[in-house]
Amino acid sequence: MYSKELLSPINAFLHCETPEAWLLEAKKPENLRVILTDHLICELKAAQSAMYLIRKYAVDKESADALLAWLKPFEDFTYRMQGDWRDLLKHNSLSKSMLPKSGTPYGQDLIDKMVLLIKEELHHFYQVLEVMQEFDIPYENITSSRYARGLLTHVKNHEPDALIDKLICGAYIEARSCERFAKLAPLVDNRIGDFYVSLLRSEARHYQDYLTLAEEIAGKDISERVAFFGKIEADLISSPDDDFKFHSGSPSEASNKSDMTQTNLVGQI
Ligand SMILES: [Fe+2]
Ligand SMILES: [Fe+2]
Repeated sequence: MYSKELLSPINAFLHCETPEAWLLEAKKPENLRVILTDHLICELKAAQSAMYLIRKYAVDKESADALLAWLKPFEDFTYRMQGDWRDLLKHNSLSKSMLPKSGTPYGQDLIDKMVLLIKEELHHFYQVLEVMQEFDIPYENITSSRYARGLLTHVKNHEPDALIDKLICGAYIEARSCERFAKLAPLVDNRIGDFYVSLLRSEARHYQDYLTLAEEIAGKDISERVAFFGKIEADLISSPDDDFKFHSGSPSEASNKSDMTQTNLVGQI
């Protein structure tokens, strides 16, 4: 079990609860494959998004190269079907310490929080593969839902506002993932439910880290911008969506035919 205090800031942050109709769909055994596969890919996207932020804003070239090398075996497995997933655990380490590039206003705090987050997301990635193995679900790549793209399309295109917006989006995606894991946990097989509960603490911290970084970097009150993204996020979650995925909206009639065939690059947990 988890403490209610863990979820209360998250529920206060989110502008709506996950619709009952999504939970009804998500607990169906025939949807386990799409939920776990999408979850798996979202864990990698979470690591990629965090890595992108520190590569773009914070570290020198040598550190950026070490980051890319860290992620490569995970990307090779996911997008190119290369390598054995069991070997990925031993690849989850960074070959050098990360140094801020000269002149960057975004320093060690961004790097430290994001490096820890990447390590945890890649560990989650491996854990989802373990669950898929246990439930005899082979990995195949699938399209991402409209969700992350629907948020990120509103990111401003000038700095530092762009970075602040991306961090706020990160906070919402982490918070929603946390809320969904908590709601879904009692509705699915115990082994999967226990796994979801085990993810709550780190995903709750990821939400808080993104929000804290956004506030620190802005150096001013960002509550209006947070509320702006909160409304967009709630709309993506509560409006009809015919593509059933981990972060999808309220399932519509066509959503049972979720697409397990194509590739896309947006998402995060
Ligand atoms: Fe995660
Ligand atoms: Fe996360």
